[in-house]
Amino acid sequence: MTRGWSAPSPAAVGRSGPSGRIPGTAELAAIYDADTEDYLSLGETIYVFFMLGSTEGAHVDAVLRYADLEGWLDGRFVFDLGCGVGEVLRLMSLRWPSARYSGITISPRQHTEMRSRVPLIDASLGDFNRASLPEDVDLFISLESIGHVEDLPSFLEQCAASMRHGGRFLIQDAISSTGSRLIPSWGYRLRPPSEMFAAARAAGLSIRAFDTPPFSMERAERYLARSRIARQMHQLAGDSDGTAIYVFEKP
Ligand SMILES: C[S@@+](CC[C@H](N)C(=O)[O-])C[C@H]1O[C@@H](n2cnc3c(N)ncnc32)[C@H](O)[C@@H]1O
Repeated sequence: MTRGWSAPSPAAVGRSGPSGRIPGTAELAAIYDADTEDYLSLGETIYVFFMLGSTEGAHVDAVLRYADLEGWLDGRFVFDLGCGVGEVLRLMSLRWPSARYSGITISPRQHTEMRSRVPLIDASLGDFNRASLPEDVDLFISLESIGHVEDLPSFLEQCAASMRHGGRFLIQDAISSTGSRLIPSWGYRLRPPSEMFAAARAAGLSIRAFDTPPFSMERAERYLARSRIARQMHQLAGDSDGTAIYVFEKP
């Protein structure tokens, strides 16, 4: 586990993407479809690179701990923004079976996988920058996907409007304290925590928890040869400040 990171050689990182153009919805969906095949073939079911634990279950546990859900989540409604193949929701549903779960992914491949893997969880296929969000959400979660949000203040405002009072919003994402940075090849924006806090406050959300925990990049290393996204994340970890956990609350 580390808080910093020494960047790999350019040869290890490889090409950084086809152009400086930001992918549109269909292109991003295709990128995720291709990467999903690869991570499923490696036996992985969550799609997170900055890992807080040595297994997927340990990572999910470590992230969820920040939101203090024990004794609170029963019977509530959870919505995962960028839900991958639904593994985080699946693990949560085993632990809190009385809660209701849903989510959204841009990748048709992930959506199909989710339907066979967790058929009882009804998730949407779509672009969360354009889709309407559900009502009465008790807990939004977003693990390494909030960087795909195009207009953060307006997005958090919409999320806040969809949340019940007392609802929580748990985010894990890579950060950059040197200012907001876009990774053009897959349209991912790294933000400094100050930008996230400002957008959350403007949306009427309060800060319940924040941390920049130690992490491992071992998983991203495993994808280096295959995944454009992993190469970018790995390269970027060299000059980012690692990963942050945020828990916001709607008063
Ligand atoms: C790096 S992965 C994060 C992993 C995921 N949270 C998990 O549970 O495995 C990013 C996720 O966000 C989704 N995503 C990216 N852009 C999106 C968008 N505009 N709308 C909806 N989902 C999006 C991807 O399909 C993928 O599921």
